[in-house]
Amino acid sequence: MQTNSTITVRQATPDDAGALITVLVEAFLDGPVADWLVPDRNDRRAVYSRYFELIFKHGLRHGRVDTTSDLSAIAIWYSRDEAPLAGAPDHYYEVEKATGKYAPKFLLLDAIFETHHPLAPHDYLAYVAVDPRHQGRGVGSALLATAHQTLDGVNRAAYLEASNARNRDLYLRLGYRQGAPIHLPTQGPLIWRMWRGQPTDGTPAPFPTDLLPRRRPL
Ligand SMILES: CC(C)(COP(=O)(O)OP(=O)(O)OC[C@H]1O[C@@H](n2cnc3c(N)ncnc32)[C@H](O)[C@@H]1OP(=O)(O)O)[C@@H](O)C(=O)NCCC(=O)NCCS
Repeated sequence: MQTNSTITVRQATPDDAGALITVLVEAFLDGPVADWLVPDRNDRRAVYSRYFELIFKHGLRHGRVDTTSDLSAIAIWYSRDEAPLAGAPDHYYEVEKATGKYAPKFLLLDAIFETHHPLAPHDYLAYVAVDPRHQGRGVGSALLATAHQTLDGVNRAAYLEASNARNRDLYLRLGYRQGAPIHLPTQGPLIWRMWRGQPTDGTPAPFPTDLLPRRRPL
């Protein structure tokens, strides 16, 4: 357990599922990516509830899930040391079961993100969300600062995709630098690829030019 000013960060457990899945659903419920993934707002909360249950369990099983002692925020990290194995067939079925007719969009998003994923070793921030009632009070920054402190201690980079310009600005303030954005197909929104390399002389490392998008067929 680590304390960052007034925020205490700890690892999530299966007992936190109910509260943290709700945080994910409510935090991601609106915005350009949500409009693109599940255009019908009436379907969205139910689809997201099933989808984020899958994501939360996947995070506990294969990654690291950070939360705050009051369960108002969640960050799901994965260690990426080498190219991942091709998507497990079970995952496709589970996404289809969770998202129904919207599954093609969810799977397309996964595939696009994977295609553009840097190859160099890093920790990947797949999701970060703060309960909307607690947003804008420094909780998200503190949660990420704790993870960054650990990464800085072992000289390790971080990577994420920012889903809107306001989030991109937050990550820029936290030491990330942006790479070429991704434009989601079928009139989808822009996504910014963000890299937080280890700084030199206090200057954030630029987005590495040798991290070309993976040119694997979708
Ligand atoms: C993005 C998020 C994790 C930031 O956590 P937070 O505790 O609200 O943020 P902090 O108080 O530490 O920092 C505030 C900054 O976060 C960013 N931010 C993005 N969305 C925000 C929101 N809905 N409310 C407040 N800040 C937001 C802004 O850069 C903001 O600075 P600004 O007010 O000067 O524009 C949180 O707002 C959230 O869960 N948003 C919805 C889900 C999401 O977009 N997740 C990230 C996907 S890339």
